[in-house]
Amino acid sequence: MKRAFITGITGQDGSYLAELLLSKGYTVYGLYRRKSSLDFGNVAHIAHRITMIEGDLLDYPSLVAAIKESRPDEVYNLAAQSFVGASFRQPVATAEIDALGVVHLLEAIRSVKPDARFYQASTSELFGGVYDTPCNEETPFYPRSPYGVAKLYAHWITKNYRENYGVFACAGILFNHESERRGKEFVTRKITSTVAAIKHGEAECLELGNLSSKRDWGHAADYVRAMWLMLQQERPAEFVIATGETRTVREFAELAFRKAGYDIRFEGEGENEVGIDSKSGKILLRVNPAFFRPAEVNVLLGDSSKAKNELGWEREVMFSELVSRMVSSDIKKLG
Ligand code: NAP
Ligand code: GDD
Repeated sequence: MKRAFITGITGQDGSYLAELLLSKGYTVYGLYRRKSSLDFGNVAHIAHRITMIEGDLLDYPSLVAAIKESRPDEVYNLAAQSFVGASFRQPVATAEIDALGVVHLLEAIRSVKPDARFYQASTSELFGGVYDTPCNEETPFYPRSPYGVAKLYAHWITKNYRENYGVFACAGILFNHESERRGKEFVTRKITSTVAAIKHGEAECLELGNLSSKRDWGHAADYVRAMWLMLQQERPAEFVIATGETRTVREFAELAFRKAGYDIRFEGEGENEVGIDSKSGKILLRVNPAFFRPAEVNVLLGDSSKAKNELGWEREVMFSELVSRMVSSDIKKLG
């Protein structure tokens, strides 16, 4: 029976990955941070099937102890300060967790269990949206946020541990993936949870920043399958994981409202743009400049041909279904 150690297990991806590995018969260990109230987040429903180990990416001794206890065949490093917006306000913490935290973990693996296979959660934020053609593994990087820069260090140190020390270290350059378990500060879940609140009469209007920003959005359950596939290959490598389609925030919001029974038409431009309910004439969506970022990644679009050819990976959840699932789940939760 294989053993896996997952950091970031309480987050969105950690929970889907834990479910996947349990279904494959793995013994699963997960790292959780000490908080003022004990909370296993998205894995609360399966916490009894996982060995949860207390620790922090910032604390090297706790990582050594976790690797000693779990003796993993596979390590998935999903832990991060993952919100780009927050990285502009907390650049130092983001660098410490997302960059230095990774070398702490790689060192712990190298000294305790050097034959463990390692997955690093790299990101399309490495490309920085300077491209409007699909990005693949050969596209040069240009990060545009403290988060992107920290993840760039993590990406290269992962490659370096492979080349310098022979660690089986892979990096998945994953484009945005969302789900019913997505944190509510990310734009998709902010949209679907607010649309649900409007539907239930608990909110009046959705306030967003840049509506023209474009993202390549898939479902997290499909993306964790790609992480696992990477660690089953003969040789470690980097892979881009994406849908190959890109949509604006405006399109996501329009569809989310439609799934909840509202037909929105957009009027105005820039900061004055609003989304009006065709039936009632009420403004249901407004632009609020407070949600703009100091530097924006305008377009993200990925080309995952390598993953299709070498891993046999394909997404199963299409864009419309992703939005449907998130809206229905939020409406149900409030109901
Ligand atoms: P998420 O929901 O924000 O989860 C982040 C996880 O990291 C949480 O479990 C969090 O624990 C943990 N964490 C944060 N700081 C930590 C620390 N210092 N020590 C230990 N654990 C810590 O993120 P996600 O969407 O699942 O993403 C998973 C990974 O993929 C992240 O590295 C993210 O940057 C990367 N990524 C995500 C996407 C995407 O679209 N979702 C795309 C590309 C890459 P708490 O519960 O205690 O906060
Ligand atoms: N969060 C947020 N809130 N974003 C908004 C809003 C708003 O009110 N209005 C517009 N946006 C725009 C952002 O400016 C950005 O262009 C886009 O919506 C997506 O923002 P997020 O959902 O916060 O995600 P992200 O693309 O910045 O980062 C996510 O994807 C990365 C992969 O590309 C995160 O999951 C990262 O961890 C991940 O690496």
